[in-house]
Amino acid sequence: MSGHSNDDRPNGESGNGKPAAANDGAGGAQMWGGRFQGGLAPEFEEFQKSLTVDHALAMADLETNLAWSEALLSAGVFDDAEQERIADAIRDLAREWSTRGLDINDPAEDIHSLVERELVTRCGDLGKRIHTGRSRNDQVATDLRLYLREKALEIVLAVQELCATLVDQAATHTDSPIPGYTHLQRAQPLTIGHHALAYAEALSRDRERLIDVIARIDRCPLGCAALAGTTLAIDREELAAQLDFSGGAMRNSLDAISTRDHLCELLFACSMTLTNLSRLAEDYIFFASHEAGFVRFGDAVSTGSSLMPQKRNPDAMELVRGKAGQVQGALMALLTTIKGLPMAYNRDLQTDKEVALPALQTTIDCLTITTIALRDATFDRARCREEAGRGYLEATDLADLLVDRGVPFRDAHELVGRAVDRALELGIELRDLPDTDWQELLPGLPPAAREQLSVDAILARRGALGGTAPTAVAQEVRHWREQLRGWHDELIHTDEEGADATGADA
Ligand code: ARG
Repeated sequence: MSGHSNDDRPNGESGNGKPAAANDGAGGAQMWGGRFQGGLAPEFEEFQKSLTVDHALAMADLETNLAWSEALLSAGVFDDAEQERIADAIRDLAREWSTRGLDINDPAEDIHSLVERELVTRCGDLGKRIHTGRSRNDQVATDLRLYLREKALEIVLAVQELCATLVDQAATHTDSPIPGYTHLQRAQPLTIGHHALAYAEALSRDRERLIDVIARIDRCPLGCAALAGTTLAIDREELAAQLDFSGGAMRNSLDAISTRDHLCELLFACSMTLTNLSRLAEDYIFFASHEAGFVRFGDAVSTGSSLMPQKRNPDAMELVRGKAGQVQGALMALLTTIKGLPMAYNRDLQTDKEVALPALQTTIDCLTITTIALRDATFDRARCREEAGRGYLEATDLADLLVDRGVPFRDAHELVGRAVDRALELGIELRDLPDTDWQELLPGLPPAAREQLSVDAILARRGALGGTAPTAVAQEVRHWREQLRGWHDELIHTDEEGADATGADA
């Protein structure tokens, strides 16, 4: 057998594969000891380790190892009995780690070294042969993709949960008015349901983006070794199929082991999702203010002040808004890390996980907390309705009434502007203008037209697709319910396809 393409060892030395006990005492069970006499500086040893982060890839690494053992069987490196023995050890390890967890302070350099050491401990010399023809470079690239496609799916589910919550909210508030704003100035009345579905729409595009990215994550780099490809006669498409990579084997070894563009894309999809969540959070922080008084968050997501006894702070939403920045930062950090890297693997790439993994979890957490917070929020309907009728939100509709009577819109705009001025002077709403002012300022429009300026009338007029009318919102709620059912069915289908080869809960 020929392929010893392990990590970037210039002279092709084979890794020492020594278990920790047989190591040089520096702590780590290095896979690359051949040409080194001195141990690592303890500071550097710590600095270069990644187990505290990449332990998250443990189950993925075991799956990758299992598939690789099959490839070694097909390449004639293992015979049936040997492959079975290794496979059993991998499954044992999976069971052990999924019940007891693994020690993230283990001296192993990274998850790949730890798994290999465990296999050597359990299978002796046989374990030392598992790394034949592969590298940690294709291993980590593969593990990461396995991990990311699961995590991305978790994010999709969390997005769907939040959409379902927004749709429930829309269904409850199909016809409840609330002031609508542009420039944070009162503009026109909205229904609360319409506002909720605006965010559901945005999140549905985030979901689309995530699913789109999953297709590009779902491609297999295993079998590309350190950079130039493996010397083993293996069928890489079969290997890809074994790991359920729907996109098959990646077609260029250099690209396969060194690209992280799928991770950048995923972080962008997360950043965009959190940008949308952050806007939602901002709306609700304002809605919960004393000034607006539209929403009250439940005790489960509100906090008080250590000093001011009257406070009820919307911290959940503020933290979501704040953490959105972290995830956007992670995207920038990764792009910046990658931009100067020569082909192919560089150790810089190890930092991808430090930056990305917490960001993915933060995305899930923000989605979950927003869902909980919205379920726990109550709108003060009476106040929302009252405020939707205050602050001249009917001005556009008044101009439209003049237009209906043949006044050109620009003139109508001018006339209503003056009427607003007068109402402001008198400290009243437009519809409360005395008849004399009305007749003087709005010629040709009988004061009885006021009735058409009620909040409900204004809302009802916007019944075309995409509008805020209760009829339109009710229709969108029906549309959304169907959409949510479709999403649900799609995921059941995906779940059935994705069975875990190691037999352990990942
Ligand atoms: N821990 C490394 C990473 O996460 C993988 C090891 C590759 N190391 C190497 N020297 N080629 O990227």
